[in-house]
Amino acid sequence: MASYDVIVIGAGPGGYVCAIRCAQLGLKTAIVEGRETLGGTCLNVGCIPSKALLHSTHLLHEAEHNFAHMGLKGKSPSVDWDQMKAYKDEVIGQNTGGVEFLMKKNKIDWIKGWASIPEAGKVKVGDDLHEAKNIVIASGSVPASIPGVEIDEKIVVSSTGALELPKIPKKLAVIGAGVIGLELGSVYARLGSEVTVIEYMDAVCPGMDKDVQRSFKRILEKQGLNFVMGAAVQSVETSKTKAKVKYQPKKGGDEVVLDADVVLVATGRKPYSEGLGLDALGVKMTERGQIATDDRWSTNVKGIYAIGDVIEGPMLAHKAEDEGMAVAEVIAGKHGHVNYSVIPGVVYTTPEVATVGQTEDALKAEGKKVKVGKFMFMGNARAKAVGQAEGGFVKIITDAETDRILGAAIIGPAAGDMIHELCVAMEFGASAEDVALTCHAHPTYSEAVREAALACGDGPIHS
Ligand code: NAI
Repeated sequence: MASYDVIVIGAGPGGYVCAIRCAQLGLKTAIVEGRETLGGTCLNVGCIPSKALLHSTHLLHEAEHNFAHMGLKGKSPSVDWDQMKAYKDEVIGQNTGGVEFLMKKNKIDWIKGWASIPEAGKVKVGDDLHEAKNIVIASGSVPASIPGVEIDEKIVVSSTGALELPKIPKKLAVIGAGVIGLELGSVYARLGSEVTVIEYMDAVCPGMDKDVQRSFKRILEKQGLNFVMGAAVQSVETSKTKAKVKYQPKKGGDEVVLDADVVLVATGRKPYSEGLGLDALGVKMTERGQIATDDRWSTNVKGIYAIGDVIEGPMLAHKAEDEGMAVAEVIAGKHGHVNYSVIPGVVYTTPEVATVGQTEDALKAEGKKVKVGKFMFMGNARAKAVGQAEGGFVKIITDAETDRILGAAIIGPAAGDMIHELCVAMEFGASAEDVALTCHAHPTYSEAVREAALACGDGPIHS
């Protein structure tokens, strides 16, 4: 029986980062993973493959719509879908291989197979029993469907199946205008599918800044996505090659039927902890099926911790990574910490959308006096040079009395990278004036962040 200081269950971004930090802190560590490759949902069937497809199809879109205007004449490239998927797989392979290298480099044992916890201090994989002073559950999440809709990964697919469609569908119905629906909806719209997104709420990306929601939807509509808002999908019926999506408008009226070749179900994900034996161990769960943890990521069973999508909080790879590092430090007797009020969220469409902190509406609902500084990318020279100025902006929300930054939203080029300037500012408790007084290189997209900060004070220069 092998014996470890820590066994991490699940090698997604939460689990593998946790294992590396444990090893760096001198703990004898193993990681259990049942997939053929490391990296979890994110690297194998989530963030990374979708970004590869978003990148290739973005280039296609540029060639079809913007090249001629910039003086690049000639035939647009034709799509070799199998090669595009092969490129995506190559990118996956580079990344999962990279994680495997990091495990070896840090002398972390990869125990291959699916784990269960027969008792605290023990992890069973296949017929082998391993001892661990500490166990970290990082088993992630799986797609959640809705009543009346059964995912078969052929005609009715989750994000996993959507990355592997044998051919580009003529008509794609997307249920849910959240992150997955809009990212993968964009991919197929750029590939020529007729994409219809059906969303229960009245705005895309529920919970996001209202100005961003409005602009985002308008921009996506211009790119060819169709939206049916305020409609609840009731059921999906399938034949061998087609589907009928039935939805009910919330404001009343008859049920509507939409024909599609493929239906993408993007209605959220649910925590995954099946097969671990948590029931028998008496591990406390929340009402929403997450593993309940305290502020040090400990479950109610001593020596068993949990992090990432399987516990409370946003289901984001980087939130899981932060928790992975922090729990490793807790186990090593240090002070692990995650600042949950500064976790950015990014949608990798074109333009990108990025947010951090609280929204203007949420702050106002709390009775907080806020000041809003907004700057449109139309006033940013660099965004105009790359043809991505239209509709985008940076919005910073501050405490009206102290000028401290409480939240921010960006819709525009490289928003997902630019948001970090504001994350760092928030982490340091900075005011908008601090950002406004910082010299920003010209010509960069980041100048728009400074201008929005200036807009919180005496006003921006370029609007
Ligand atoms: P989501 O929670 O972002 O969006 C689901 C949408 O489906 C909501 O807008 C909801 O109102 C709608 N919906 C639910 N039931 C419906 C019905 N019956 N009819 C019509 N609409 C309905 O979930 P999504 O996009 O599936 O993503 C799952 C998780 O994965 C999220 O936590 C997300 O943050 C994460 N993720 C993050 C990414 C990123 O950071 N770029 C990329 C992909 C996923």
